[in-house]
Amino acid sequence: MKNNSCQITFRLPEKKDANTVKQLIENSPPLDINSVYCYLLVCTHFANTSILAENSKDICGFISAYIRPDRNDTLFVWQVVVSKNYRGKGLATDMLKSILRRTYPAPLHYLETTVNPSNISSNALFSGMARSINARIVKSPLFTESDFGNSEHEKEILYRIGPFDILKKEKI
Ligand SMILES: CC(C)(COP(=O)(O)OP(=O)(O)OC[C@H]1O[C@@H](n2cnc3c(N)ncnc32)[C@H](O)[C@@H]1OP(=O)(O)O)[C@@H](O)C(=O)NCCC(=O)NCCS
Repeated sequence: MKNNSCQITFRLPEKKDANTVKQLIENSPPLDINSVYCYLLVCTHFANTSILAENSKDICGFISAYIRPDRNDTLFVWQVVVSKNYRGKGLATDMLKSILRRTYPAPLHYLETTVNPSNISSNALFSGMARSINARIVKSPLFTESDFGNSEHEKEILYRIGPFDILKKEKI
């Protein structure tokens, strides 16, 4: 991290983290708030592709992600959150890189996510990430407003970042 005075460690999320992760998401608009059941699934079935950042007592960051079932070289990043006091220090970028450095059954060459056009920080995060690993971004519409039915929801633009080579496994 840019601020090395923070004693932050990364680990896989566990079942016991699901409620706290939901609270962190609730405190972090504009993220969609999902059910505890959903975060329980993320913290169990998708733990190996997700990450949790914590200091001595608090969870300060979380990313949910999974390998696309139809493309085993593509990591899809679903929700990224950093608690307010820890933003702007490179934590989200470091968490993403840490997930990419793990060993997977098939090598990862692409990272995908969706970004709402109004989410400046999300766009900045993934644009910066692509720059730092020398990968291009291809942007295309994935979900329109009407795909969300009556729930008012901005459209979601797919960012496909890559191809990239496996990141070196050096420590952050
Ligand atoms: C988006 C979010 C996860 C970024 O976390 P972070 O730890 O502050 O991000 P980083 O410090 O790694 O910053 C990554 C890049 O984004 C830029 N950035 C971060 N927040 C920004 C903001 N509000 N405005 C403009 N740029 C911003 C940083 O300057 C950095 O750019 P660089 O690579 O050119 O240096 C955090 O702001 C957050 O939790 N927001 C609320 C939830 C959300 O919107 N999540 C994203 C959608 S899934």
